[in-house]
Amino acid sequence: MPPIRGYVFDAYGTLFDVHSVIDAGRAITSDPAALSVLWRQKQLEYTWLRALMGRYEDFWAVTEAALRHSVRRLGLRADDGQLARLMEAYLSLPCFAEVPAALERLAGRPRAILSNGSPRMLAAAVTASGLERHLQHVLSVDAVKTYKPSPAVYALAPRALGIPAAELLFVSSNAWDIAGAKSFGYQVAWCNRTGAPAEELGAAPDLVITRLDELPA
Ligand code: LAC
Repeated sequence: MPPIRGYVFDAYGTLFDVHSVIDAGRAITSDPAALSVLWRQKQLEYTWLRALMGRYEDFWAVTEAALRHSVRRLGLRADDGQLARLMEAYLSLPCFAEVPAALERLAGRPRAILSNGSPRMLAAAVTASGLERHLQHVLSVDAVKTYKPSPAVYALAPRALGIPAAELLFVSSNAWDIAGAKSFGYQVAWCNRTGAPAEELGAAPDLVITRLDELPA
């Protein structure tokens, strides 16, 4: 394997803990976990569908559409104010506890976010979790108006960092994102926080970890 000259991180579920979104769901349902699982699944589905249709809308719009569908599908009722409060949870996400120290340990080499998130959503989450000084680049798919796992998205980080994908370590908790990045040409580390089974997409991770402080420095 070529040496690692930089690190590229997925955002949601990898750096940022989306569990606070579950808490926000308590206002409209007694089963906020079910809402959160369906909401996340629909959010991703809509990114893939919009990418295939060539009908990009930013991640804020997609996330809001996924929420409206999920609320209806689960037979819940929520007014505009309640929906707005659920959406706002995305702007103040905490990072996982080990993340600041884990990023600090990798200092000396560039560290970037590459995410489906819109620039505004990513800026808010980075600020809310105090990660500014650990990240040299915050890259959004918005620059190419499509979504992961499009190769056009994965091409953003090598271009911004001036380092070939083969010399970058891409880190994500989403196994499908790992498959996309590996297939593009990155070295990849799957942060399997939940003990999930591997995806069957023909692109196995180079490394499997359970927390970001297990990354090779
Ligand atoms: C992201 C989603 C995939 O941050 O978690 O791109």
